Amino acid sequence: MDPIHELLQNRYSPRAFSDRSVPRETIRTLLEAARWAPSSYNEQPWRFFVASKDDPELHARLLSCLAPGNQDWAKNAPVLMLSVASMTFTRNGKQNRHAFHDVGLAVSQLILQASVHGLQAHQMAGFDAAKARELYRIPDGFEPVAAIAIGFSAEASGSSRSRRAQDEIAFAGTWGEAY
Ligand SMILES: Cc1cc2nc3c(=O)[nH]c(=O)nc-3n(C[C@H](O)[C@H](O)[C@H](O)COP(=O)(O)O)c2cc1C
Repeated sequence: MDPIHELLQNRYSPRAFSDRSVPRETIRTLLEAARWAPSSYNEQPWRFFVASKDDPELHARLLSCLAPGNQDWAKNAPVLMLSVASMTFTRNGKQNRHAFHDVGLAVSQLILQASVHGLQAHQMAGFDAAKARELYRIPDGFEPVAAIAIGFSAEASGSSRSRRAQDEIAFAGTWGEAY
């Protein structure tokens, strides 16, 4: 087995961010990487709220949606985002059961593009979706998915990262039969 690409290998979710700001142009590039993700029926169900420390009020607004334990460290991230999914297809109004899947794909592209710029991202399920819906006036048919803190890491590395073995996640034939 060859080693995976260094962009994948070196990505981790930091809890400490440096003061260094992220230029607006770079934030635009990250969003562009997300925009070009594949999606079911090319629905592109992803939406993003973006808050940079350059606008303290917007940064504080997004931060206020996070769970207290996440606020403790995410307050230092120069960029905060909130991903939102459109839950129905534009073409026929039917439920899109891959909406969250596709938002995750777009975020994956966003955070890998972040790695290209030397940035790290830390995603969060710990946020108040109802509060976000109200504060941001998110319409019916859209669901907040995850918050994301982005910046230059102030941690040495993600040395404690661990994963399940391939035998546990890749099957052949029947469930549990390792590939
Ligand atoms: C959808 C999602 C939700 C997460 N929620 C939180 C969270 O609320 N708080 C937190 O500290 N980390 C959160 N994480 C980070 C994971 O704990 C982390 O990605 C995992 O432990 C693997 O570590 P690594 O990203 O450094 O490889 C979340 C990650 C994802 C993808």
